[in-house]
Amino acid sequence: MYVCICRGVTEKTIREAVFQGADRMRDLKECLGVTEQCGICACHAKQILDQTLLERPQSMKNFLPASACMCETPA
Ligand code: FES
Repeated sequence: MYVCICRGVTEKTIREAVFQGADRMRDLKECLGVTEQCGICACHAKQILDQTLLERPQSMKNFLPASACMCETPA
């Protein structure tokens, strides 16, 4: 399901980014462009971020620095 229509970012993509190390909205913005345009997606993206952080293994906390996020920014 699309979360950010402006950037074509899906829930799955956000979850993958979190499992790759994103743990703040700023990380999602930098990696995926979420909230960069109209911003309507912010609340839903934050919910997915928070939910996925709870599911992410504790051993992954700080596993990768945000700068190491390997997400591809949608064209
Ligand atoms: S829907 Fe995400 S910036 Fe517009």
